[in-house]
Order: sequence, then C-alpha cells, then structure tokens
Amino acid sequence: MSKPVSMSIIPTDLDAIEAATGRVSVLVPLEGNLWQEARRVNRLTKGAIERMRAEKGDKAKIGEIVSLAWPAGMAASAVDVVFLPRRCSVEEARKVGAGLGKRRGSDELLLLAGNHPKAAEIAMGIALRDYGFEDHKTAEAAEDARAVTVMASKADEVEAEAAPLLAVAEGVFFTRDLVNEPANVLTTTEFAKRLDDMRSIGLDVEILEEKQLAELKMGALLSVGEGSDSPSKVVVMQWKGGEKDAAPLALIGKGVVFDTGGISLKPAAGMEDMTMDMGGAGVVAGAMRALALRKAAANVIGIVGLVENMPSGNATRPGDVVTSMKGDTIEVINTDAEGRLVLCDIMHYAQERFKPDAMIDLATLTGAVIIALGHENAGVYANDDAFCNAFLNAAAQENEGAWRMPLGKAYADQLKSRIADVKNVGGRPAGSVTAAEFLQRYVAEGTPWIHLDIAGVASVKSETDYAPSGATGWGVMALSRLVSNRYES
Ligand code: BES
Ligand code: MN
Ligand code: ZN
Repeated sequence: MSKPVSMSIIPTDLDAIEAATGRVSVLVPLEGNLWQEARRVNRLTKGAIERMRAEKGDKAKIGEIVSLAWPAGMAASAVDVVFLPRRCSVEEARKVGAGLGKRRGSDELLLLAGNHPKAAEIAMGIALRDYGFEDHKTAEAAEDARAVTVMASKADEVEAEAAPLLAVAEGVFFTRDLVNEPANVLTTTEFAKRLDDMRSIGLDVEILEEKQLAELKMGALLSVGEGSDSPSKVVVMQWKGGEKDAAPLALIGKGVVFDTGGISLKPAAGMEDMTMDMGGAGVVAGAMRALALRKAAANVIGIVGLVENMPSGNATRPGDVVTSMKGDTIEVINTDAEGRLVLCDIMHYAQERFKPDAMIDLATLTGAVIIALGHENAGVYANDDAFCNAFLNAAAQENEGAWRMPLGKAYADQLKSRIADVKNVGGRPAGSVTAAEFLQRYVAEGTPWIHLDIAGVASVKSETDYAPSGATGWGVMALSRLVSNRYES
C-alpha cells in the first residue's frame, strides 16, 4: 500500500542549511525584505536569490518556482526558489508543495518554511504529489523516495496542523491504489479484504456475503454480479467518533471491480479503463480511512457494493426484470447501466438500517457526465440546497471540481417502463441526469441526499496539479472537509 512520505518537521536551524544534501527549497516574498532563511541561502550563494528577484522584478507570479542547479556555496544539488507571499490561499500553498514534490522526484528535500502561515499546507501539497503506482513495475520496486524535512520556526505548531492533513493524504493514496489496481488483482474478495484490514485503525467492518444479500432481497445488486465467478459483496464500515446517538452521515459507493457491460457488452477499445469502475467505493474507502486516521469527531458510515459485471450463461439479460430490496421491479434494458442497480439496494439498506442524518453516493456512473463536464468537475445532484451547498463549499475549499446539475420530473419520466415499475436506462438525452433520477427513487422522504457522478474525475489520462496520470483520489479531501465543517464544528 502506498503511504505518504514520512515528513519530519523540525525547528529552523540556519547553520544546517549549508551542508544540507538533496534539494533545498526556500520561500521568497514577491516584494519586501527576504526572510531569514532566504537571507542565509542568499549569503551562501553570494547573492543569487537577490539577483534572481531583482531580475524577475514584478514579473514573478505567486507560486512560481525557479530552480538553481548545483549552487555554489551549498552542498545541495539544487535550490528551488519559491515566490510566495505570506498571505496566500490554501490552493496556492498546496500547488507550491505539489510543484516541489514533482521536481524532487525521489530526491531528498528540505523545505525552509520559516514562519510561513501555510507551511502545513505546503507540506500537504508535497505529500499529495509524491505518489506513484509502482506495485507492478519490477525494476522500480526497489527505489524508495528519500526523506522530506520541513524546517519551521514553530515546528510544533506546523506538526500539529500537518498531522490531520497527512492523514487525509493517506486516505487519498488508499483510494488511488484501489482505483489503479487491475481487476485480476482487485477482485471483490481482495477489495473486501483490504477494507477489512481497516479494523486495525479503529473502523468497524462487516462483510455481507451473497447469501445474506439474498436474504436482504438485494435483487438489483445481485443481478449485476450473476455472470461473474467473483462473489458479490457489500461491505459496511463504521466510524464512531461522534456523540453516541448522533445520526451518522452515510457514504455509499459503487464498487464494480470490472465493467465489461455484461451481455450489453462494451466495445473492446478502452475497455481496460473499466478497472476504475469501483472508483466510488474507492473514494468511500479512502474517506473512511482519512476520518479514522485523523480521529474525526463524527459518526460516519461507509457502505460499498462490490460486484463484477461479466457476460456468461448466468448473466442477467437485457429485458430481464429484477426486484430491488425496496420492493419495486426494474426492467433491465441495458446490462451496462449496472451501477445504479448496485447503488439502489445499498442506498435503501443504508437508510433502513442507519437512519442517516444525510447520505452521499459516489459512482463512476455514466459516460454522459464526461460529455457534459469533462474531467474538470464531478456532476453533483442533490435534493437539498443547504446540504448541496455545504458540499460544494467543502469541494471548493479543497480545490476539487464539482458542479451542480439539475433534477426534475420530466427526466424521471424517461425511465417509465412498459412492463415494470421502472427501467434502468432513459435513453441518450441527459444520460447522467436520468441515472441520478433513477437513484433518487431510492432516497426516502426527508433524507438530504447528494449523488456524485465521478466518471470523469476518478481517473485521468494526464497529470493533475496533485497527482500523476491515473487515479486522482478526487473526493476524499472534500468529504473529509465536509465532515469537519458540518459535524465537527
Ligand atoms: N461504468 C460506466 C460509466 C463510465 C464510462 C465510467 C466511462 C467511466 C468512464 C457505466 O456503468 C456505464 O456503462 N454507463 C453507461 C450507461 C448507459 C448504458 C445508459 C454509459 O455511460 O454508456
Ligand atoms: Mn456499465
Ligand atoms: Zn459501470
């Protein structure tokens, strides 16, 4: 499992700068006097920092990083000069950290943070970008990234601020590992095992097997895994960090470990990307991990439906009618619209069993949301404006793209079935909206609910600000922030 780099946060020792090996990064304000760390680096390099700043004049941008290679007067292999004022946003600070993390590769890094108020956020940025999924690369496996050290005037304060952030980074990494993992490794059984291992960090974990799911009458969820040799499972994770009888927040995740489309088989080109179709469950798992590691003072339930959508002689056919746990009948027009069949049963179960204060489901649900929003924003659907805005604010605070989309009866009407209570697809127009409407049928009156269609953001082909290409971990930070904003303050 990938863990964020272990960071030591130590008190500033100006005399140690000269002999520091690896990369040294130093913060420089756009104007005004240099801070003491930069003054020391400037003196050691015989004025290089001042000359650089003079040359840049007012052209330097907030967050810009300029590197000096093999600086004279220092043992370091490079000095990364970061133009960053004291007053900067969390986003600016994290981007600087991510930029430093990317530059260092696996070199040693010493960040001279001085008394910068966003030192912990810079550290968070370094941690987030310091990720690679190398489990299946035989050559690279041996090389471990070297240490990161942060020197800060008030090391204890920075340490205390960074600890919960780095816990969240570990949750993000857990999600990225799960989402990057190929489907022959991350089977439903292996996925459940990795979740079960989170008992060691204080989560209650229960694994419901097919027999129990059948007793619970989860006919919709079970219909999806019928064609696979991997058994369908539902995993319930509980974090009880809040008041004993406070209603929990429920996080629900689509965990299709591989989506071939089933009998409505997908085309071959690009099908390999469907290893990420458990992205919703991956984010729920990473969020639960983050909450447990930072010992959140809140009650949160995570429920994931783990299934594999395969064609076979046992597979569900287009035209089949299945009965959900709620009791309504669903005509399966297209076996490739399987995510909603998984979610509807676990959403219903979550509400029956836990009477949650609010519920959020996450799923790589539709290609249509990618057509609508690309890879920049997840589609956000909600039945409650206040709850929705709370989430949108949390996502904005964490710089995770999220955009609200509409719901409405006319969309729901696209799901009317000739022979059953509902059908599982509503045609091509507004495909992400009709999927959300399908889910809303399983939200009880009075439960504030958000559906996040993360098909475009869970895994991407080019690197992002905070991650190399592949799984992003999108949503773990926003959910952790939502929990702290809404339940912990
Ligand atoms: N897992 C897919 C959605 C998806 C597409 C995720 C691309 C990530 C990238 C989902 O199960 C699916 O196949 N949806 C269909 C629905 C259609 C049959 C109504 C789709 O979007 O084409
Ligand atoms: Mn599908
Ligand atoms: Zn799918």
